[in-house]
Order: sequence, then structure tokens, then C-alpha cells
Amino acid sequence: MTAPTKELRSGRIDGREPAVRLDAVSKVYGRELLALDRVTLSVARGEFVCLLGASGCGKSTLLNLVAGLDRATAGTIDTGGARIAMMFQEPALFPWLTVSANIELALRVTSTGAGTTRKQRRARAAELLETVHLGDFGGKRPHELSGGMRQRVALARALAQDADVLLMDEPFGALDAMTRDLLHDELERIWRERGLSVLFVTHNVREAVRLGDRVVLLSSRPGTVIEDYKITLDRPRRTDSGEVTGQAATITDRLKQEVLRHARRAPAASGPDAATGTTPSGGER
Ligand SMILES: Nc1ncnc2c1ncn2[C@@H]1O[C@H](COP(=O)(O)OP(=O)(O)OP(=O)(O)O)[C@@H](O)[C@H]1O
Ligand SMILES: [Mg+2]
Repeated sequence: MTAPTKELRSGRIDGREPAVRLDAVSKVYGRELLALDRVTLSVARGEFVCLLGASGCGKSTLLNLVAGLDRATAGTIDTGGARIAMMFQEPALFPWLTVSANIELALRVTSTGAGTTRKQRRARAAELLETVHLGDFGGKRPHELSGGMRQRVALARALAQDADVLLMDEPFGALDAMTRDLLHDELERIWRERGLSVLFVTHNVREAVRLGDRVVLLSSRPGTVIEDYKITLDRPRRTDSGEVTGQAATITDRLKQEVLRHARRAPAASGPDAATGTTPSGGER
């Protein structure tokens, strides 16, 4: 399970074409901070891949590279011209705009929205808000919404970009468990309906098993792929089910092993806060 299979190295997964393919990608910040070390990883079209790893191992760096926000120092990233949208832990909505206007703005600046009229964008924003069950909230401002609702708006805004690939960086990390559960259901439905390819970063191992077709584990910095778990449990899954909890425990053990290995190698980084930054049992961060 540890080394990438021949199929993964070629980029094909279960015979499916990759939507995103990283081949031996490294990233050095400044002169010598090696954040990622020869990461080889593919996400098939329509696949949901979760990325786990200790804090600082390079997960956000990896997403930024795939999104084209930064350049790899070595290696290649192939997204085959797919449209890519990104969603962060903070919704980052414009507070002076209504919920609908936030989405209309995203529609206006994307190529798919270019040339559309204001009326068309408003109608499309209303549809997207329906998709995330916020049909009645288009006229509100972000501060009038709960944290979970704001993340829904951020999801609608990401969907407004009509992306094929959705990159998500701990999008539900700041939410309570119940709200997160609801958003898992919604995200899973939207992912299926739209045939999206998703690369989802989380610190919550159960969340990764709840959502992922695969759960990929990165080593402590410099990040490199050390495990690639295929999750074949029937969907929809429950975060608190025995199967999800059981697989999460296996992955957590592996993660702990990696963190201890890293701590032994670099004693300065072995304080409790440097341990994992991860919530193996699915608890709050
Ligand atoms: N713009 C930057 N300039 C310099 N160093 C950076 C930059 N961004 C990230 N780093 C460093 O690269 C390493 C990986 O950071 P990154 O943010 O990718 O980790 P992460 O896995 O997302 O961590 P977390 O789980 O805490 O979000 C860290 O050591 C970080 O300090
Ligand atoms: Mg990060």
C-alpha cells in the first residue's frame, strides 16, 4: 500500500483518466525550506480524494500549486486544462455585498459568466443558492448568516466557477460536528450530481474516511505520499459508523507512527503542538 502502484504512477486510476496529475512535484520556499518532496499523485475524473498529514507537511502548498497560485520548484502538474475552483477554511466573502451579489461577482469574473447579463447572473446565483439550501438568503449580508451558512455560500461561489476540479483546504474545519455532517451530505450530493473531481484537505481522519474514495497520507515535512488508502465503504457513510471509525483508527495509527518518526528525527519539532495538528478520532480541532 505504501509505494505508488504502476497504475498510479502512470496517472490512471481504476482505468479512469486523471483530472489532476502531479509527477515528482517538489516545492522549496526561499533557499532551503523543502515543503514538498517529489509528490506523485493523481485524482481521477469524478474522484473524491482526501489529503491528510501533520500540520506544516505541505498540504496547502500542494493545493496552491495545483490551483496555479504558486509554481513548483521541480516536477510537473497536469490539470488537462480543467477549470479549477478553490475553497478555504474561511469563507472570505465580501461583507458589504449581499450573499447573492457575492456569487454574482464570481459569475462575472469567470469565463463561463462572461457576456452574461446582470439578470442572468442573478438567476444563476439564485439557482446556486438553492443547490446549497440557501434559496431564501440571497438578500442577506454575510454577517447575518451562521458560520455553516457562510461556508455554504463559499461553496456556491466555488460552484459558480463551473469548475471541473474542486480544491478544498479544510473547508469545514471551523464548524461544529452537526453542521459539518450536514455539509458532508450536501457536498457529496453536489460532487455526484456534477461529476466533480475533488481534492480535499482535512485534519479530521473520520471526515476523510466519510468523504473520500481515497485517503492519501503525506509524510511530515517535507511532504511526500506515504500511504494511499482506497475507501470502498458504501455511500452515503456516517461519520460515526463502526466502519468509518474502524478505518479511521487504522489511518490514525499510521499517522501517529509517521509523526513519531519525524519527532525522533527532529527533536525540536516534537512538542505537543507539533504532534499532528490532527484530530484522529474525528473530534474538534
Ligand atoms: N509562502 C511561504 N513562504 C515560505 N514558507 C512557506 C510558505 N507557505 C508555506 N510555507 C512553509 O511550508 C511548509 C508547509 O506549509 P503548508 O502551509 O503547506 O502546510 P500545511 O500542511 O497546509 O499545514 P497546516 O495543516 O497547518 O495547514 C511549512 O513549513 C510552512 O512554514
Ligand atoms: Mg494548510
